[in-house]
Amino acid sequence: MIAFSSRMPSTGISPVSPAISCDGVSITAVAEAVGTPLYVTDAAQVRSRFEALHHAFGDYPHALHYALKANSLTGILRVIRELGGAADANSIWEIEVARRVGFEPSEIVFTGVGKSGDELAQAVPLGLKAINVESAGELSRIERIAESLGRPARVAVRVNPDIDAKSHPHISTGLKINKFGVPLDAARELLATFSARPWLQLVAIHVHIGSQITSLEPLERAATFVATMGGELRRAGLPLEYLDVGGGLGISYDGAPVVAPSDYVSALVAAVRPTGLPIVIEPGRSIVGPAAMLVARVIDIKPRNAVSEFVVIDAGMTELMRPALYGAFHRIDAVQPRAGDVRHYEIVGPVCESSDVVGRDRMMAPLEVGDLVVVRDAGAYGSAMASNYNRRPLPPEVIVDRGEWRVARRRQTVDDMLSLES
Ligand code: LLP
Repeated sequence: MIAFSSRMPSTGISPVSPAISCDGVSITAVAEAVGTPLYVTDAAQVRSRFEALHHAFGDYPHALHYALKANSLTGILRVIRELGGAADANSIWEIEVARRVGFEPSEIVFTGVGKSGDELAQAVPLGLKAINVESAGELSRIERIAESLGRPARVAVRVNPDIDAKSHPHISTGLKINKFGVPLDAARELLATFSARPWLQLVAIHVHIGSQITSLEPLERAATFVATMGGELRRAGLPLEYLDVGGGLGISYDGAPVVAPSDYVSALVAAVRPTGLPIVIEPGRSIVGPAAMLVARVIDIKPRNAVSEFVVIDAGMTELMRPALYGAFHRIDAVQPRAGDVRHYEIVGPVCESSDVVGRDRMMAPLEVGDLVVVRDAGAYGSAMASNYNRRPLPPEVIVDRGEWRVARRRQTVDDMLSLES
């Protein structure tokens, strides 16, 4: 391997720091025992991040419906449920998982832009807290099922507020051009029909303008939008039970400042308080994102160009798709940094695609084959979006809680995969 420090005077010798641990548990020890790649989640962080959001509401009535799509490992869901959290499910399967860990139907909101006939047929009889509807057609389909059951369905209307979340285009959902929600004018027309629809009970208005939102302004605008609409509906004689302002609060992947949960909640409460209605939020990333890391091992190092090398690790887009899909940045650190000149690395995964880059152009202490690295802030949309591409097994998940660790999900095996095939 070549040292490049002489060409990069700004970098210099990397200081040797202590080995990475999670709540006192050695990452090296866990990786030795379980193998790599693996996810390690710190339950204490899940708790503290949930509590920070919850306490920020003070005595303002609210419910935190954790968005399962971010990470629905049952070990994490149990932690959230113990704290008094509720659930936001995006499919009938997430509803099923939520129920298996003990969430009551009355604690689940069913969101999502495409709910199949089968999903609705199963969901409506459950008596969920709300089905957040995305179109006039979906509302009619729910209505027919409710009528056949002889019991009104609780629904919320997801309105598309045409607000720019200023996030990555793949995860911005609040603009008119996006597929989500009912546009404002159509929503007004739809809402006016409720008084003549006995099999539908309108319980809320819902907005969700996107994910990884790092400035307060769009979140505040969305809350004001929903509050204004809630006020209008009340004056029109359609009383609501609550307002659902969705999820979307971002986290800092690179250390740049982001909105503090307390400022976010203060803005929501300030916007909604005039209506007196309880607030529902659907946070995913802000609760679990920073709470987990992906642990991987260096399996090869080879020259890349005159100034840098490829470091191939045993985790890639199959374990963490975000860098390949969104060009997302995740910090990568050696578990036990070595002394020596900082080097220029392209950290790549083992998958047969050039998009399988986990970290571009990283300046790091020297790595060697066999070293462990962690990919930080991988708790949200990491393992949840993992795949079997290249027949790579889904990675195991370890939860660290009160200084102890346990395998919360074992590594998938080829037998597991093939058991689905005939
Ligand atoms: N509610 C609804 C209706 C949603 O669609 C989402 C996320 C959430 C709540 C939770 O949003 P959060 O608080 O986590 O931002 N895979 C992408 C993120 C997709 C988000 C999808 N919807 C990523 O890795 O960045």
